[in-house]
Amino acid sequence: MRPRGGNARYIMAKQQKRKTTLHAQPLLRRRPMMLKEIHEAPERVKTLIAREFAPLCAVLESFKQMPPPLILVAGRGTSDNAATYGRYLFEHFNGIPVSGAALSLFTLYPTSMQLKGALAIGVSQSGESSDVVEAIRAAKRAGAFTLAVTNTAGSSLDRSADHTVLLHARKERAVAATKTYVAELLAMVMICRALGGAIEEKEIEAIPGVIRKAIACEDEIAGLVPFYRYAPRCLCLGRGFNYATVREVALKLMETCYVGSSGMSAADFLHGPIAFVEEHTPVLLFAARGPTYGFMLDLAKKLKGQNVDVLGISNDEEILAHCRLGINCGIDIREGLSPIPFATLGQLFACHLALTRGINPDTPRRLRKITRTL
Ligand code: F6R
Repeated sequence: MRPRGGNARYIMAKQQKRKTTLHAQPLLRRRPMMLKEIHEAPERVKTLIAREFAPLCAVLESFKQMPPPLILVAGRGTSDNAATYGRYLFEHFNGIPVSGAALSLFTLYPTSMQLKGALAIGVSQSGESSDVVEAIRAAKRAGAFTLAVTNTAGSSLDRSADHTVLLHARKERAVAATKTYVAELLAMVMICRALGGAIEEKEIEAIPGVIRKAIACEDEIAGLVPFYRYAPRCLCLGRGFNYATVREVALKLMETCYVGSSGMSAADFLHGPIAFVEEHTPVLLFAARGPTYGFMLDLAKKLKGQNVDVLGISNDEEILAHCRLGINCGIDIREGLSPIPFATLGQLFACHLALTRGINPDTPRRLRKITRTL
């Protein structure tokens, strides 16, 4: 989509000749692994559904009859964002309260918790995030039934849990998690459905095609990123189910593009951070048709009135008319499942922005694939 209202601010940013190291690295000549892995996601999640859905339903059948009083979710980084998505699913569709594990309570403080009858879900691509593994082991000792969601068979998390949902995403070589994140999100949907959530199986079966449609927006996204080449910071806003999306996209932008970014609830944004926005602070709005759409539309109108530089990412044209730039993925999906294609759009945006900034997104500085924290 063409810029609405001009792109003067980035030209100005360019004129300011910010002292960055962006040009120090040559642009990548080969296609980055991150991009290849984003493109693999539809096939990988097909395998995830085919191999894991039926056994998962069998394992959780008793919970369907007698729901657990509590679900504990544990994850770090990207996997924590997938766990946050799980929270919205399990509370909304299953009516089960969810607690996001405060991992230091399992590792640094002597804390004893009563988790009899609860379901504890550890989410970790590597299965080796030490505090997530510790939390699942402790939850098991405290009486919970434990589920691992991981891409690594035989990992510590896999071995510690009562049952494992293996992601079947194959090895992820880029440091930034992409196909594994999308698979984690789908695993959360599968757990929700296996616990009796009102999500139809055909909606789950449709997910690979939905991700493909998001990938089809790649050229449009690649055409937009030059407008953000010199942006030093940005905000990612969304609500409800897409709270996880905006946190994840902000993480990806920091990790792969070195853009100072924060992902927050669009409601919280109005409680203070709105004051932080300046002319050169791009705001990424993720808005899917559904219960949060009206709020997001009003916010887009408000920000337009204040001349804020908004990039809208939506499946509805109306909101985009109030944004300076926009991506309409045209995907007809209920809001509760929209974080899956939106994650793909965010990953493509981060990957192409990194390339435009002359950064290799496969090897973020100071990062390794596995981070162990206790
Ligand atoms: C970001 C990323 C990390 C990991 C985090 C947890 O793209 O990959 O945030 O998600 O280090 O790792 P796992 O999932 O292996 O526990």
